[in-house]
Formats: sequence, structure tokens, C-alpha cells
Amino acid sequence: MIKILDKEFIPYISDKQIRDRIKEMGSEISKEYADKKPLLISVLNGSFIFTADLIRTIDTPVEVSFIRVASYQALQTTGKVREILGLKENVFGRDILILEDIVDTGTTLEHLLEAFKDLGTKTIKVATLLHKPDAQQKAEKPDFVGFEIPNKFVVGYGLDYEGLGRELKEIYQLR
Ligand code: IMP
Repeated sequence: MIKILDKEFIPYISDKQIRDRIKEMGSEISKEYADKKPLLISVLNGSFIFTADLIRTIDTPVEVSFIRVASYQALQTTGKVREILGLKENVFGRDILILEDIVDTGTTLEHLLEAFKDLGTKTIKVATLLHKPDAQQKAEKPDFVGFEIPNKFVVGYGLDYEGLGRELKEIYQLR
């Protein structure tokens, strides 16, 4: 068990489980995008570790870009979604794969999908390490999912609680 600020967390998904599953996702994505040279859009901050590990399991050429869209505070989605920040590439006519750490209510994803559609992308798919199907109310189901998890708060492997816990190698669940 670990403690972050006022909350206790228990180990939930191990280092090895994450690595093994990401390898499988990498193969699926490589197959899907063979010869397509997609632009991978990593959504900061949460997905930086997932992105770094995932792209090293992909064996077809890809480009990677990092964006930011903050919509989450502490333990609950606020519902407020801001605009996409940091997109430098021209995405018109491109195959886009959005990389998320977690899809919870789907609010962030819905906003991203709309924004990228407006920019004239050719195709848009979504890969997320974690998915909370019971919490998702918006957007479509992600195309590539690492782990489906219950509607409980998690930290580690890039995910934070109040800015802390991103450095943890495993994923922990709120006790
Ligand atoms: P959504 O818009 O509700 O789908 O939330 C998406 C964002 O909320 C994610 O990119 C995370 O940054 C954050 N988030 C959602 N659930 C959790 C969680 O269990 N732990 C840490 N962050 C979370």
C-alpha cells in the first residue's frame, strides 16, 4: 500500500502486465497502420510514459506530436474542457491516432475528436492504456484499449493524483 497526500492506494496493474499488454497494442497498431505513416497525438501530461513505451513497440513508420488539454481536477472531471494547445503539425488529410492515458467520462475525448474532425483529418482513431467503460458517457469506445478497469481512481505510470504519483512504475488503485 502507498499513501499520496490524504489517500491510500493499493497495487493494481503490475509493471510486467503493462509492458506485455503494450507490446500487444503495438502489434495491433503496427498492423492497422502499415504503410500509412500516421500522426500519433499524445495527450499530455498523463500519456507521456505510455507514449514513450508504446512507440517503441511499433514497427512501422509513425510521427509523434504532443498536445495538451486540461479538463480534470483532483478526483472528478470538471466538465470544463479547454482548447487544444501545442499542435504544430498540419493534420489535414492525415491519419491520426490519439494516445490517451485513460478514458473516463469521455468528455476530453469527445472534444478532441470534434476538434480534429474540424481540422479535416482523414481518419481518427484512439488508443488508450486504460478505459473505464462504466464511467464513459461521451464519445465512442476507443479503438485500442490496454485495460478495461472499474470506475475507481487510479495513479501511477503517468497518471497523477493532485499532480503526484506519475513516476510510479505500476498502476495503483484507490483503496
Ligand atoms: P475524461 O474527460 O473524464 O474522460 O477524463 C480524462 C482525463 O481525466 C484523463 O486524461 C486523466 O488525465 C484524467 N483521469 C480520469 N480518470 C483518472 C484516474 O482514475 N486517475 C487519474 N487521472 C484520471
